[in-house]
Amino acid sequence: MIPMPSPELSVKPVRKKKIAPPSIEFETPLIPLVAEPGQDTWGGHTQNRLEYHIRRGDSVQVMKTLPANSFDCVVTSPPYYWQRDYDVEGQLGQEKTINEFVSGIANVMDEVKRVLATDGVLFLNLGDTYYSGKGEPKGPDRKNKARRMGLRAVDASGLGVPRKTAIGIPWRVAIEMITRGWTLRSPIIWQRKSNVPEPSAKDRPWRSYEMLFMFSKSPRYFFDRTGLTEAREEDIWQISDRAKSSEGLHSAAFPEQLVQRCLQVGCRPGGRVLDPFAGTGTTLRVALTSGRSATGIDLSPKFCEYMAKSLAELSSRI
Ligand SMILES: C[S@@+](CC[C@H](N)C(=O)[O-])C[C@H]1O[C@@H](n2cnc3c(N)ncnc32)[C@H](O)[C@@H]1O
Repeated sequence: MIPMPSPELSVKPVRKKKIAPPSIEFETPLIPLVAEPGQDTWGGHTQNRLEYHIRRGDSVQVMKTLPANSFDCVVTSPPYYWQRDYDVEGQLGQEKTINEFVSGIANVMDEVKRVLATDGVLFLNLGDTYYSGKGEPKGPDRKNKARRMGLRAVDASGLGVPRKTAIGIPWRVAIEMITRGWTLRSPIIWQRKSNVPEPSAKDRPWRSYEMLFMFSKSPRYFFDRTGLTEAREEDIWQISDRAKSSEGLHSAAFPEQLVQRCLQVGCRPGGRVLDPFAGTGTTLRVALTSGRSATGIDLSPKFCEYMAKSLAELSSRI
């Protein structure tokens, strides 16, 4: 029998192109890296001339200053809904309604789409939030000051969903993005090898996975299956959490291995990588160590300064 062609979008594997991509034209030249108070642009390069750029600011506003089609791959983890206070004005994640949060993230992704190359790929990691609706602030979290907030929208009444429900944030965002024209090629489960201890949850299983959505901008895009075959995994990736926060910064950093897998499958060698919610700079570090140039955007001066120092140190070694 002649096999039927797959109804799925066709993927043309692009193999190891040797041509170096043109570097992005930034308005400001590369500045050697010493973090000065008030500074909001940093940049440098590794010993083998791979460039990196850090921009402090709102991700939408900063991306608006970047040319279209200038990145081959985006790997990012935005703030989750009401999970953390990054202590910086204009942060996403503390919207009064679910819809405001969903459109806030989708607006950032609209801009990501513009700066992503036509054959580019986006990996978006998002976790869910439960609605407590108790009408009182969540108790203090002794281990993590960043979680001591006032009355959060997910504790107040009137969010419009039943008390105790998982809100379904990751899928709400993904569906909004599909509506706005993104192609969702794979909803990947990132199974965290050790589940997150949730001692207060006695009437449901503790959470042990998060979503990692793989989106493409067009029907044809770069994809290399080698990374999956080597790991013997398909759309469930078993990857351990990161051991500790970096220098006491509570960024909810994702593990390097997760970013490595994304770049291995979705970014051609020598490609240009962007993280519009860069935090401690995990994406940038993995991009540079795997031979790709990197750009990171974050609203928080603390995180940008940390990234600047850590990338200056890394680039003196590689
Ligand atoms: C989940 S953390 C990212 C952690 C990162 N993946 C890492 O490995 O460290 C989300 C980041 O988004 C930043 N952020 C929040 N709102 C932002 C906005 N409007 N524009 C840019 N960055 C923002 C926060 O400062 C925080 O560092």
